[in-house]
Amino acid sequence: MILGNDPILLTPGPLTTSLATKQAMLRDWGSWDAAFNAITATICRDLVDVVHGAATHVCVPLQGSGTFSVEAALANVVPRAGKVLVPQNGAYCHRILRILGYLGRAHAAIDIAEDRHPTGAMIDEALKADPAITHVALVHCETGTGILNPLPEIAEACARHGKGLIVDAMSSFGAIEIDVSRYPVDAVIAASGKCIEGVPGMGFVIARRDVLEKSQGNSHSLAMDLHDQWTYMQKTSQWRFTPPTHVVAAFRAALDQFLAEGGQPARGARYARNRDTLIDGMAALGFRTFLPRVVQAPVIITFHAPGDPAYAFKPFYEKVKARGYILYPGKLTQVETFRVGCIGAIDANEMRNVVSAVAESLKDMGVSKMEPLRAAA
Ligand SMILES: Cc1ncc(COP(=O)(O)O)c(C=O)c1O
Repeated sequence: MILGNDPILLTPGPLTTSLATKQAMLRDWGSWDAAFNAITATICRDLVDVVHGAATHVCVPLQGSGTFSVEAALANVVPRAGKVLVPQNGAYCHRILRILGYLGRAHAAIDIAEDRHPTGAMIDEALKADPAITHVALVHCETGTGILNPLPEIAEACARHGKGLIVDAMSSFGAIEIDVSRYPVDAVIAASGKCIEGVPGMGFVIARRDVLEKSQGNSHSLAMDLHDQWTYMQKTSQWRFTPPTHVVAAFRAALDQFLAEGGQPARGARYARNRDTLIDGMAALGFRTFLPRVVQAPVIITFHAPGDPAYAFKPFYEKVKARGYILYPGKLTQVETFRVGCIGAIDANEMRNVVSAVAESLKDMGVSKMEPLRAAA
């Protein structure tokens, strides 16, 4: 891959982008210009196609990082008198609960260990026990650990009970199959700087058209009002407020490359090769993953830190960075970990190289005892 001389970001967004995506930002666009607005329209069409939603869903783009779109989706899709169930197994599930608190929407959580995923049976039981629940909010890939939550099974449980489903697909969209024509989903949320491999700066919500049409007046906030953004865009073909023009242009270029690669199946397959190459290489150095491989999404891998007293994350990070690779700290409180992303414009070769960079860095630090201090509970 042609990447230029930047360090390789092994982080789950921002991530390493291709030279073609970076080059797409070397032009200024007028936000009123028809050519720019046509780009936005084609992006929306292509994003809906990624989840097979052309017959039922529309895409509403929104300025800001991914959390802005998660908040907007919850605020618009859930009526003010609604109640949201959150199967909670990590940091981004926890963030949804915080957002619901800010929005003043009633909510309940099913607390699940971070190395376990929710099941359809758990959702069935919770919905039966509390008929006030109107919606379920699921994080598809919980990026805090890298676990894949089983969307089809959860969606089928919601459908059995006639409840709405909102999916935070921030780190899975484009890499892991989502098919809204096979199971009902009210809203799928993601952002430009994740598995489509654009740069950060805009999110998007792919919402069921009938749900969006009925959502007028739900939003607490003008800037977050997806119904308002959508109706304005339909009328004028423009964004309501200043669009992130360069981000949009780069996203178009990234989507072109995504489609040329073969769309979600091909992208998911490359990331799976990255994951497997990384885990095998790190295992040969003595590293253990936090998650069992069966639930490990091809997105980000959490590794236990070595128990050797000579190990500390900060110097380890700096040494690996000096060799051209940016790692990610762990997000768990119980055990010491670090994370390595396997998404972005990178392939198995970068994964082999980062394993070598890790091996050399540990040698420099005098780390040899790889057994973690505390194993996963
Ligand atoms: C699952 C998930 N949800 C939400 C977010 C929030 O996105 P942002 O940091 O762009 O606001 C992220 C970010 O990585 C994520 O992985």
